[in-house]
Amino acid sequence: MTFPNLKNRFILAPMVDVSNLAFRILCRKYGASMAYTEQLSSLAIIRDNPRTLHLAETNEEDKPIGLQLFGRNPEVLVEAANKLKKNFDVIDLNLGCPSKKIVAQGYGAALLQEKEKVKEIVQALVQGVNKPITVKMRSGFKKVEALELVQVIEKAGASALTIHARTREQQYSGKADWNIIKQVKEAVSIPVIGNGDVDSPQKALQLLDETRCDYIMIGRAAQHNPMIFKDILHYEKTGEILEHTPEEKIKLCFEYAELDKEGSFVRLKQICQYFTKGITGGAKLRAQLNAARSKEEIVGILKEYSL
Ligand SMILES: Cc1cc2nc3c(=O)[nH]c(=O)nc-3n(C[C@H](O)[C@H](O)[C@H](O)COP(=O)(O)O)c2cc1C
Repeated sequence: MTFPNLKNRFILAPMVDVSNLAFRILCRKYGASMAYTEQLSSLAIIRDNPRTLHLAETNEEDKPIGLQLFGRNPEVLVEAANKLKKNFDVIDLNLGCPSKKIVAQGYGAALLQEKEKVKEIVQALVQGVNKPITVKMRSGFKKVEALELVQVIEKAGASALTIHARTREQQYSGKADWNIIKQVKEAVSIPVIGNGDVDSPQKALQLLDETRCDYIMIGRAAQHNPMIFKDILHYEKTGEILEHTPEEKIKLCFEYAELDKEGSFVRLKQICQYFTKGITGGAKLRAQLNAARSKEEIVGILKEYSL
């Protein structure tokens, strides 16, 4: 099975509490060519956990879309993937989450140290689920382990892999080592999605150029500015850097509110805080947003700011 053909090389990263359906649609509107759900527990899916199933919701606008699963039991992962696969173009296995809770259960980044287990899981998914299987991983647990592991993953039948160029020990600190992405790209022939620290159009093109990776994935920069995809595409075409006005950033908040009608006001508040970071008068605006107690209040505060 092959990885889908994408309209451009810039993909939205899976992010817990950020990349829900509304956020994904917003990023697609500004040019993201693909997106993933946040990591979802394979066990919770097979147990019909309502919150997890809600997080797996998608729609026709949200395409192509990957379902990201975490877990370590091949049978459970296959069952979870099969249960939801009709709505998804790709099934992705999380080998990167650094959180203590996840790692303690042997999930996420913990698996980076278990080549045989990873082989078993990827093979089971490839054989048991009729969809392209991808993996999102870090460069290693304590030290760089990716170079051997990526070959195991490719041999096991994965259709693509994403590499976040940091070890688990680094969490989100330090600088991503893009050289690892280059080495991974040289080590496998499946598509490689490079990830880590892309926060500007220049860096996006630099990562593609320096590593020759096929796609890049953007997380935190999109969390604060979903327009980054448009910025990159514009820069790629014209060499120009787009500047965004406070009005555009407020517009993003309204667009998000419209897309996430069913979502909680706490979430909307959080998203508005991200989008308005750094705008003139932003500190006062964010203090007002912080005190808001309903969606109506949030919308009122944003409207007042725009006057
Ligand atoms: C708030 C947040 C939540 C994240 N959740 C996930 C997740 O569910 N699955 C995953 O594979 N990576 C997750 N990540 C990691 C990102 O997908 C990405 O690999 C990382 O942020 C590095 O890319 P960036 O420098 O573009 O942010 C998360 C990152 C952040 C900041």
